[in-house]
Amino acid sequence: MPGISGKHIVILLVSLTVVAVACAPKVRYGILSTIFDGVPTPVEHNALVVGDTLGQLDSARILAVSKAVLAPVYNYIHEPYREKDCASCHIKEQMGKLVVEEPQLCYQCHSSNNEKHSFKHGPAGAGYCTSCHRPHVAETKHLLLNEGEEFCYNCHDRKVVTENSIHDNIKKDNCLDCHNPHSSENRFVLQKDACYKCHEDTTSDYSFLHGPVSGDYCSTCHGPHTSGNENLLVQSGQDLCLNCHDSSDVFRNVEHQGTENEVCTQCHNPHGGENEFMLN
Ligand code: HEC
Ligand code: HEC
Ligand code: HEC
Ligand code: HEC
Ligand code: HEC
Ligand code: HEC
Ligand code: HEC
Ligand code: HEC
Ligand code: HEC
Repeated sequence: MPGISGKHIVILLVSLTVVAVACAPKVRYGILSTIFDGVPTPVEHNALVVGDTLGQLDSARILAVSKAVLAPVYNYIHEPYREKDCASCHIKEQMGKLVVEEPQLCYQCHSSNNEKHSFKHGPAGAGYCTSCHRPHVAETKHLLLNEGEEFCYNCHDRKVVTENSIHDNIKKDNCLDCHNPHSSENRFVLQKDACYKCHEDTTSDYSFLHGPVSGDYCSTCHGPHTSGNENLLVQSGQDLCLNCHDSSDVFRNVEHQGTENEVCTQCHNPHGGENEFMLN
């Protein structure tokens, strides 16, 4: 630490204590930021940052004492921030500009299933990670902006959600019991098994499960509850099945001769059965 002697450190710490205890956050920020380059804004941070990978002041002692002086009010601290690995996200030479845009910024260290999933939750699919997560510190776990249903109502209209009868009788705060925050294989970013929160799981009754059912791809056949179609099917009759099964293959089989105009579910159970052909 060039230029700062032990005596200076003591003086610095004493004045820091005064600053920390006596000043309103805004004023305190003004003073601290003239001492330490890169002190984050008071709106989001209370933890004092000294010494980091951008090559700022580096004194374990200042850090230890200042930590005691300025007790952090945040319960959750992002690990690279705690480690003062600022340079993994910021470029010092360019006024702290980000090293790369989101979501690549986050994918430097986190992996994502979003690409694999067919249904993506708006902002997560678009890669706006910090519309939900704070990059440095937070009062809520998973570094979220806030908690429970209020978190969802940051963006969703409460009225729209509560007016959908599917949400009748749901408890507050349990939105994530059924929905996935990032992406999923079901419409409405519903979780795997979310359907079974309200419907009986009959799949264990079957020795053989239909491909898409065993994969929990319920929405390949079922649409929104508000659609009004019988069994909420996305299509009716043979069309539903011929989305995935090639009709020339199907009708080549002798068992299918003369069934060209029959609905497939007359002979096949759409979910599963006691034999591999799921015959009724
Ligand atoms: C995981 C990535 C990441 C790390 C690590 C990180 N930051 Fe940030 N920081 C961000 C993002 C994202 C923003 C918001 C930038 C934007 O909106 O342009 C931000 C914003 C800031 C800001 C602008 C004011 C504010 O708080 O919004 C400051 C100052 C800052 N960071 C300082 C730091 C310091 C100092 C460190 C190291 C102790 C650090 N950051 C570590 C991602 C990070
Ligand atoms: C330099 C590596 C690094 C970068 C870049 C980074 N993270 Fe992290 N993040 C970590 C580590 C390490 C942890 C703690 C271990 C863990 O939970 O995976 C963590 C934890 C988290 C957690 C909390 C996990 C939990 O269950 O509590 C969230 C949320 C998160 N990061 C989101 C982000 C977002 C959003 C970005 C981009 C703005 C980002 N991270 C960028 C390394 C990084
Ligand atoms: C719509 C809000 C939202 C967006 C956008 C979002 N997340 Fe999340 N994320 C959440 C919620 C909610 C949780 C907590 C999930 C839980 O409680 O099971 C979470 C959990 C996490 C976790 C910790 C648990 C885990 O799955 O490992 C990480 C890491 C994470 N998110 C990273 C990201 C990254 C990276 C992005 C950007 C591609 C992102 N998130 C975008 C809402 C969001
Ligand atoms: C940062 C803003 C934001 C937050 C926070 C957020 N969402 Fe979303 N959500 C969106 C956007 C944008 C869309 C896509 C546009 C749309 O379909 O309305 C969306 C779409 C959805 C959809 C699909 C709607 C459809 O018609 O397909 C569901 C379900 C959903 N969100 C549930 C949730 C839940 C549950 C939470 C809380 C855990 C949450 N959202 C938090 C912004 C957000
Ligand atoms: C919150 C509870 C709830 C969840 C979760 C739920 N459902 Fe439903 N479902 C209902 C209710 C209530 C009805 C009857 C009223 C209606 O048709 O809207 C219903 C009706 C149905 C029907 C029509 C049944 C019939 O006899 O006509 C199908 C099919 C269905 N749901 C499939 C699904 C699938 C697939 C999922 C998962 C993607 C799912 N449901 C998730 C509550 C739920
Ligand atoms: C391959 C298409 C397909 C898939 C995938 C599928 N279903 Fe169905 N489902 C149907 C058809 C077709 C019916 C109408 C039943 C009939 O015609 O015999 C139905 C009926 C239903 C019904 C109402 C009648 C009953 O059996 O109670 C529910 C509830 C239901 N499905 C839930 C689900 C759930 C939950 C999943 C995911 C695990 C799922 N379905 C996956 C095609 C499918
Ligand atoms: C028990 C399971 C369950 C819970 C808990 C749940 N949802 Fe849903 N949600 C569903 C199902 C199923 C649908 C699909 C509705 C349909 O098919 O019409 C849905 C649809 C949605 C939609 C899109 C349709 C619309 O009405 O705009 C949003 C947004 C949404 N939920 C938000 C929420 C929020 C916010 C919470 C917490 C307050 C929540 N959900 C809790 C099962 C659930
Ligand atoms: C979303 C795509 C999809 C839809 C829609 C679909 N299937 Fe399937 N089906 C599959 C897959 C995947 C398999 C498993 C293929 C395998 O194991 O080779 C399968 C297997 C079958 C089998 C067993 C074939 C065998 O060789 O064991 C029958 C019978 C069948 N489906 C009938 C139906 C009927 C009837 C419908 C309409 C109610 C239907 N399928 C709709 C994807 C679909
Ligand atoms: C009259 C009853 C009946 C109807 C209607 C029917 N199937 Fe079948 N299906 C069978 C029988 C029986 C088998 C077993 C064939 C075997 O043993 O080779 C079978 C086998 C299958 C197989 C697996 C063997 C193969 O040929 O690939 C598929 C896939 C299939 N059916 C799809 C369909 C579809 C899609 C429809 C509607 C377009 C349909 N079936 C309508 C009776 C029927």
